[in-house]
Parts: sequence; structure tokens; C-alpha cells
Amino acid sequence: MSHVLAAVAWPYANGPRHIGHVSGFGVPSDVFSRYMRMAGHDVLMVSGTDEHGTPIQVQADSEGVTPRELVDRYNRVIVEDLHGLGLSYDLFTRTTTGNHYAVVQEMFETLHRNGYILAKTTLGAISPSTGRTLPDRYIEGTCPICGYDGARGDQCDNCGNQLDPEQLINPRSKINGETPEFVETEHFFLDLPAFAEALNKWLDTREGWRPNVLRFSKNLIDDLQPRAITRDLEWGVPVPLEGWRDRSDKRIYVWFDAVIGYLSASIEWARRSGDPDAWRQWWQNPDSRTYHFMGKDNIVFHSVIWPAILLGYDGEGAAGGEPGRLGRLELPTEVVSSEYLTMEGRKFSSSRRVVIYVRDFLARYDADALRYFIAAAGPESNDTDFTWAEFLRRNNDELVAGWGNLVNRSISMAAKNFGAIPPIDPAGLTEADEALLATTRAGFATVGELIGKHRQKAAIGEAMRVVSEANKYLSDQAPWKLKGEDDKARMGTILHVALQAVSDANILLTPFLPHSAQKVHELLGGTGVHAPMPSIVEVEDLDGGPAYPVLTGDYTVGARWESVPIEAGRELATPKPIFRKLDPSIVDEELARLGG
Ligand code: MF3
Ligand code: ZN
Repeated sequence: MSHVLAAVAWPYANGPRHIGHVSGFGVPSDVFSRYMRMAGHDVLMVSGTDEHGTPIQVQADSEGVTPRELVDRYNRVIVEDLHGLGLSYDLFTRTTTGNHYAVVQEMFETLHRNGYILAKTTLGAISPSTGRTLPDRYIEGTCPICGYDGARGDQCDNCGNQLDPEQLINPRSKINGETPEFVETEHFFLDLPAFAEALNKWLDTREGWRPNVLRFSKNLIDDLQPRAITRDLEWGVPVPLEGWRDRSDKRIYVWFDAVIGYLSASIEWARRSGDPDAWRQWWQNPDSRTYHFMGKDNIVFHSVIWPAILLGYDGEGAAGGEPGRLGRLELPTEVVSSEYLTMEGRKFSSSRRVVIYVRDFLARYDADALRYFIAAAGPESNDTDFTWAEFLRRNNDELVAGWGNLVNRSISMAAKNFGAIPPIDPAGLTEADEALLATTRAGFATVGELIGKHRQKAAIGEAMRVVSEANKYLSDQAPWKLKGEDDKARMGTILHVALQAVSDANILLTPFLPHSAQKVHELLGGTGVHAPMPSIVEVEDLDGGPAYPVLTGDYTVGARWESVPIEAGRELATPKPIFRKLDPSIVDEELARLGG
């Protein structure tokens, strides 16, 4: 057993989440965490809403509300979205808590004391017509690196490079098209070049990363520049230095605060658990492993900036130094990044209505149907397209006709003919019986290993192969033909073997399909929690701020990652179908909802 930290990217609290978001950070991190817990590891899964910075300010302005009102609204919406998907966070919190502010400021101060934060006078953009500062994201222009014309002042979405607004060619304001004026302003910079050597060493010892993620990260190290970590903005964490603390126009850069969320959320979880030091097991124990889950536009923040912040806090960059008062913190084990999901061949876009929000999806379809699609056909290591036709096909042909059918026919037949799980005939098992049981048992090693390596597509494929083998076994053995009294014992054996296969396959599918796994467990006569679920709890801020909802749960209960012998004689009822077959008409209905 070991400690595993599942550090999941923090969604911006600027709108409800769509299925593109949750296919990158959401479902894969939950599948991984559920499997690791079932395999006996001590998992801590943390995240929260990302509530500062320009993305929030921009959306608040466009909705005519304050940033605070905006994040309060969408924090709650997102908590509900993630709850609906059954994502098993130990703590899903937010970045506007007193605890988070204190941890961010502690890290900033320590990095500053260790000499990794430098003050510099730079050019900041202001709007000539209003005199107000223009945040980076409000500025658009041509990327100086790849020539793409829609680059933003903070980042080019075409080549993925980080930018500063004054680097843009032909910069213009996104608000009113005017050309920004650049004036001198003082900011703090994270001295990234001071970490180049340490980052290189760390990256050289990484194993098992997706090759493109590692290659991309190593390339970033070749050209590190000091990076601004304060902004001309009123909304954010105050800069904890003399003369800066009380300024209302300067705030810490949203990405500097957000990545620290992994640590602050772990500390918040520990403080709420009754053992305020419990977080140390995941952050200060060299045997603990940390996995970061995100979409590919977040790689630089997790494979360069966050490790650099940790190194600076530990005093392990070129300028040396001492760890801060929390003590030395370990660097991440792996950055697990997914690619992009598109929607019917187009980029997701709320404004163009090329979108399906999680809450709308869950109002019409089951969470496990979406979880299945994402695991089987999501953007794990290639950009992939969501189409309603493919969703319908996966649901009807694979979930319903494959897994649902196996569950249904084996349990119905046993219920009808025996009323309970039948015993194995003393005559024993045939070769075919043994072969199926060997296949399902072998699934635990294969599927588990694949999930552990973040190859969830292959993993769910293997689990579904076990399901097909069991369906084939039933068709070959045709227990429904064994009607005579002499045949009854053999029929019982076949159904016993089939039900054992159902039970095994159900455990293999539990990380992917937790809601239906609970139902199958109950159909097999099981009681108690098989797949634990998160709950939404209203909590007080630990440091006097306003109350807020969190996602949390007790995940120490539930199935283990092993074959459990089913008990002959356990009562069975006629099952209700666990998956809904969808009418093909949903494809046109959903397409009609999309913007043209
Ligand atoms: N809010 C960011 C996004 O949606 C992700 C933040 S992840 C964290 O792209 F590391 F900063 F927490
Ligand atoms: Zn570019």
C-alpha cells in the first residue's frame, strides 16, 4: 500500500462545465483514483474551482456582476456538475478560501525570501479611452512565434506558447478594438531560469509519461524566461510584501495561486479530517506518488511552473535557500495530460452553441453512459471527436447489447429457474467453464495494470473483452436448452459460472461505471456500498470567510480489486435493465440543439 495523490486540474468558475472539460481532467482522474483505492492504496483526490484572474473578471463583466457573485454562482454549479458524474473527490474546494490565501502567501513569501522572486519594471497595457489596465486576455493580436492572428496577450492557442501582451504583433483590445497603450508598471517575476538545471534533472528521471507530454515539457526548459506572477488586477490574492499587501490594484497571477491549490486543498482536507498534519503523508513522504490530470493546454503550468515553485519553496534552485515553514515538499511523479475533445467536428464554443453542458447531458442521459463514452472513446492521447451518432452506437451496441445484456440474461435465467444463485454441480466444471473463469480472473491484472499506466481506453477495452467472452460462453453453452430434470444441475453450473463472470466483470468495470456497478452488485444479491459516491456538503470557511459547498466522501468502503467468489443460495430477483437503450431519434434532436 502506498500514498497516491490525484491532483486534478481546477476548473475556472466562469460557467458550467461542458463534456470537453470533464473528458480531460474529470473522468480519467476519477477512474484512476477509484481503481487505486480498490487496489488498496491510500488515495487523496483534491481539486476545486479556480476563481481568480482574467477569465473570471472577463465573464463577470460580461454578465454585469462582481467577480465574487460570479464565482459564488459557478462554484456551486460546477460542484453539482461533478457530483452528478460521481467524481470521487476527497475534497473539491475553491481558491477563495482563507486557507488557500494563507498557503499561497506563505509560498510567495518563502520564494521571495529564497531569492526566486524578482521585482521588475515592465510595460503594462492600458486602454487609452478609459485609462484602465487591460488584462492580458483582453488583448488580441498576431502571435510572434507562429503567426496565428487570434493569439491572446497571455497565450497563443495555436502553438501553445506563453506570451506577454507587448510581444503581440498588431495588438488590439478585445473590448473595443482600440490599440492598447503600454506604460511602465512594477511587477514580480518568478526566476524560472534559476530552476532550469533542477527541472532538467527532475524531468530526466520521469518514467512512464506519455512521450509527447515529456518531449513538450523538456522543450520548454530550453528557453526559460522570468515569468510575471503579479498582475494589474483588483481580483485575486494580495501580494504579501511590505508596501504591496494593501494595494488594491496589484494581485498575484491566477496561475501562481491556482497550482498551489493542490497543496492548500490537501491541507484543508487534513484540517477538516481532525488531523491537521495528515496532508504530509502525500507531500513529504518520498514514497508517495503524485499524479496531475489535465488537458494539454495546462502542461506548462504543471511540468514547469508548479515544479519550479516547489523547488523554490524547498530552496533547491540555483540561488539555494531554506524550505519554508511547512517543510520540504516533494515534486510531482507524473503529469498526465489528455488531448482535446471536439464536438461534431468543431471546437467547443459556448457562444456559438457548439456545446453540451454536463448538467444538460445528465438531465437526458445517465452519468455512466457519458463515463463509458469518455473512457472508451475520449481524447486520451489523440484529439477525438464527440458525435451524437457515436455516443448512441457506443451506448446501444456496447453498453446495452454487450454488458447490459450479459447481466440481464444471466440473472433473469438464474432467478427464473432457481430463484437464487445456483450451486456448482458436484460433477464439476468443464474445460469451457474453467476457461471463462480463468479469463475473468486474469482481467484483474491486465485491466489494473493498464489503468495504473493511464491507458484507460485499452483498460476498458480489456474489461469489455471479458464481457464478450462471457456472452459467447452463454451462447455456446445455451443453458436455456437444458430443460429436462437431468439437465438442471448442468444448467445451474453454467449459470453459476456466468454469474461469477458477471460479478468479476462488474468489479473490473467499477472504476469506469460506478453507478451501474452498485446496481449490478445489488442485482447479484449484494448489500452495502460497492462503489462509494461523493456528496455535497455545506461547510464553514476554516478561517472566518463565507460558507461554501464542497464535494467529499468516505471512499474507504466498497469493493476491492479482486475476484470475490459468489455464494450459491443467495436470493435473486428478476432484474430491471441497468442501462437505457436510446432511440436513434436523439441524434437529430441533439444536432438540432447545436448552433449552425
Ligand atoms: N483553470 C484552469 C483551466 O481551466 C486550470 C487550472 S489547474 C491548476 O484551464 F493547476 F491551476 F489548478
Ligand atoms: Zn502561436
